[in-house]
Amino acid sequence: MDATNGKYALITGSSRGIGRGIALKLAEQGVKIAIHYYQNEAAAKETLAKVRDRDSDGFIVQADVLDPGEIKLMFERVRSEFGQLDIFVSNARPELPTFFQPPMNITLEQWDTAQNSQGKAFLLGVREADRLLSSGGRILAITYGTGSRTGGVLPWVAMGSAKAAMESLVRYFAVALAKRGITVNAVSPGWTEDSVLNTLPPQAQELIRGWHTRGWTPMGRLGTPADVGNVAALLCSKEAGWITGQVIFADGGSSLMNVEVPPEIQLG
Ligand SMILES: NC(=O)c1ccc[n+]([C@@H]2O[C@H](COP(=O)([O-])OP(=O)(O)OC[C@H]3O[C@@H](n4cnc5c(N)ncnc54)[C@H](OP(=O)(O)O)[C@@H]3O)[C@@H](O)[C@H]2O)c1
Repeated sequence: MDATNGKYALITGSSRGIGRGIALKLAEQGVKIAIHYYQNEAAAKETLAKVRDRDSDGFIVQADVLDPGEIKLMFERVRSEFGQLDIFVSNARPELPTFFQPPMNITLEQWDTAQNSQGKAFLLGVREADRLLSSGGRILAITYGTGSRTGGVLPWVAMGSAKAAMESLVRYFAVALAKRGITVNAVSPGWTEDSVLNTLPPQAQELIRGWHTRGWTPMGRLGTPADVGNVAALLCSKEAGWITGQVIFADGGSSLMNVEVPPEIQLG
């Protein structure tokens, strides 16, 4: 039996996509899961059913992570259901149309949506989680580390900046919580199946899949929510207690590629 057995986790945005992948992987290890959703209650219930199929349990909880009051209520619910928390994963991200605009066009409202959903929601979430976590606690932020370091996908400007702020917060919280034995890390997936990717126009999806399978991801495929769930579970293990304040790229090697050289030449 894994050391995470008997623990309690809250995962924002675990109704679907990567959040669900993390929930299911932790559930396989006996962790009870607070499954958070925003609008898609049916998907959250489906995640809960899958958690129960894995001999674990939990409950679903609704909240808009853009609203500080709702974040507080979400944690109050966790306190009343679980009484404690061992793992907090900040994974939720608003839908693309609410923020996906290039720098010269983006409205302040769209900018704020991206910023508040990441840095501010993480700031509030970690402070709430801190009251419920004890030594050995684990905090994870799900980021997109490529977007926080590059400038090429122009409409990603707000979310790239927001993820960069969240990654910075990860380091500050890692230091702030180190004495309590709580680790704080970010996981940065590459393009992942069964996620926001599948909401893109089919032609865009095929271009992205082709680019990665042809070489941009050295492992020759896109990731899956289960791949990211495995990495989250590793970081939540007792053995990962000496890793804190890091951004772990879980992307089949795509972040290792050199943008100045075509993949055909790099891969030989
Ligand atoms: N997909 C990728 O390839 C990829 C790559 C790198 C990083 N990431 C990161 O991984 C995380 C998950 O991405 P994903 O593609 O798996 O997500 P997704 O499938 O698009 O699902 C988004 C999740 O966030 C929730 N959500 C949306 N707006 C919200 C709001 N205002 N308040 C609270 N929750 C809200 C949704 O709840 P409902 O179901 O109720 O709508 C859903 O659970 C994100 O942080 C993303 O940046 C993804």
